[in-house]
Amino acid sequence: MKTILVTGASAGFGRAICQELVQSGYRVIGAARRQEKLEDLKKELGESFYPLSLDLTNKAEVDKALAQLPENWSMIDVLINNAGLALGLDKAQEADFNDWETMIMTNVLGLSFITNQLLPKLVLKRGQIINIGSIAGTYPYPGGNVYGATKAFVKQFSLNLRADLAGTGVRVTNLEPGLCGGTEFSFVRFKGDKERAEKLYEGTNSIQPEDIAKTIIWLIQQPQHININRLEMMPTSQSFGALPVHIQEDK
Ligand SMILES: NC(=O)c1ccc[n+]([C@@H]2O[C@H](COP(=O)([O-])OP(=O)(O)OC[C@H]3O[C@@H](n4cnc5c(N)ncnc54)[C@H](OP(=O)(O)O)[C@@H]3O)[C@@H](O)[C@H]2O)c1
Repeated sequence: MKTILVTGASAGFGRAICQELVQSGYRVIGAARRQEKLEDLKKELGESFYPLSLDLTNKAEVDKALAQLPENWSMIDVLINNAGLALGLDKAQEADFNDWETMIMTNVLGLSFITNQLLPKLVLKRGQIINIGSIAGTYPYPGGNVYGATKAFVKQFSLNLRADLAGTGVRVTNLEPGLCGGTEFSFVRFKGDKERAEKLYEGTNSIQPEDIAKTIIWLIQQPQHININRLEMMPTSQSFGALPVHIQEDK
């Protein structure tokens, strides 16, 4: 039975992915910073779940956590790079650089480091990597500045991994969701402003964490000879707008 490491397991997509994977018979290592949330999941999911407390932005901590995995949990078949965050929705010229730094540290450096550490094992197992990108990595929006750029990195990194992994049997997918409710994403983005976060999803019939989890199962259960390179998904209610043109009154 495959062993699957899911980052960002303590909330949102990651939590739902762990639940769906265990229900489908997989063994799951769930990684995140909040140990108590992982312990709750362990109580719910039992022996098929291994809680791994780590901060992805701390290389030494990630190294130590991976090295301390018990032997029967150490051969990982699938890495799901789900942990990530957006901070703030300010225009670039008004944004706090600390927010940019945290997003880059988590979404780019953290994701790259754990991938780099696990790649040799994934090659041995002819394994699979599923990265959680975002439509923000393709379509710009005001205030998306560095968050969108980190997800553009994840998209191109996924495609470049495919190029390097040719012939190894390792599969790589970038899953790129649009508006998804039922997670802590906007609560984190708006720094605990629950009302602002909840308002964003009112009446939207957005994608839910369970929808993402089911898509992950579908990706894992594709036959070995099929690689889904990129999978962009939006709620039906979300669409595209015209490109705005700013009229300058003084010219
Ligand atoms: N929700 C959306 O609309 C949406 C749309 C497209 C893409 N995405 C992407 O989907 C992924 C999951 O988002 P979500 O909506 O499920 O958000 P969420 O509910 O806020 O969950 C984020 C997860 O990432 C973990 N995490 C954050 N920083 C970490 C760090 N330094 N080290 C380890 N774990 C860390 C958090 O755990 P701890 O706090 O316990 O560490 C949490 O489990 C993200 O990559 C996000 O960018 C979300």
